[in-house]
Amino acid sequence: MPVIALVGNKGGAGKTTLSVNLAAGLAKQSTAIFIDADPQGSAIQWNAFTVIDASNSVLEASEDLSVQLDQPSKKYEYIVVDCPPSVSAPQTISVLEISDLALIPVQPSPVDLWATVHTEKAVQQARQSNTKLQALLVINQLETRTTLSRLVRDALAEIDLPVAKTALRRRAVFRNSALEGKNVFEMGRRGIDAAREIEQLIHEVMKI
Ligand SMILES: Nc1ncnc2c1ncn2[C@@H]1O[C@H](COP(=O)(O)OP(=O)(O)O)[C@@H](O)[C@H]1O
Ligand SMILES: [Mg+2]
Repeated sequence: MPVIALVGNKGGAGKTTLSVNLAAGLAKQSTAIFIDADPQGSAIQWNAFTVIDASNSVLEASEDLSVQLDQPSKKYEYIVVDCPPSVSAPQTISVLEISDLALIPVQPSPVDLWATVHTEKAVQQARQSNTKLQALLVINQLETRTTLSRLVRDALAEIDLPVAKTALRRRAVFRNSALEGKNVFEMGRRGIDAAREIEQLIHEVMKI
């Protein structure tokens, strides 16, 4: 039961968007449960998990995550946890302690990439007790039809974390699906390209 945490030190990077859609995509191929560890609870409000398990789809994280995870971990193949936008938040720290993989969405701007140094440190800190923890940066909101600029590639090279081959493009459907309380798999033809990207990322994540 791999636990996949969406972490980062900045709001707006795409943690909630990615976690909602990853959980939905994983639930199509396997079984997945989503845990909202962000006290703001935006993912719970989103309520886009009809594909997962109508009765038990979104859980609010409790104080003691390891106890909370004991039950779903027997029932679900994947657990996706959305974290608050701070790596020093107690929720993020306790989630990293029990995760197998930290996915760190980041926009392709050098400033945002340099700011991931805090996240990198938090991952290293968590690894002292959680030696199995892996981490992967995911470029999110890449402008459609453009590639990574030289500056962004240089900034990426300076970060000591691997980068997912799959980058997610900036697509209106990621935003609109949230407004409709859906994930991109429920958006029909409008969601096809976004869904394919999520599936590609899942394929990569499953190999880890
Ligand atoms: N790939 C994307 N394309 C278009 N909009 C996106 C994309 N990823 C995220 N967004 C939008 O950006 C905003 C911030 O994303 P969100 O997932 O809430 O970030 P976080 O949880 O890290 O604060 C939301 O309005 C979301 O719909
Ligand atoms: Mg969020």
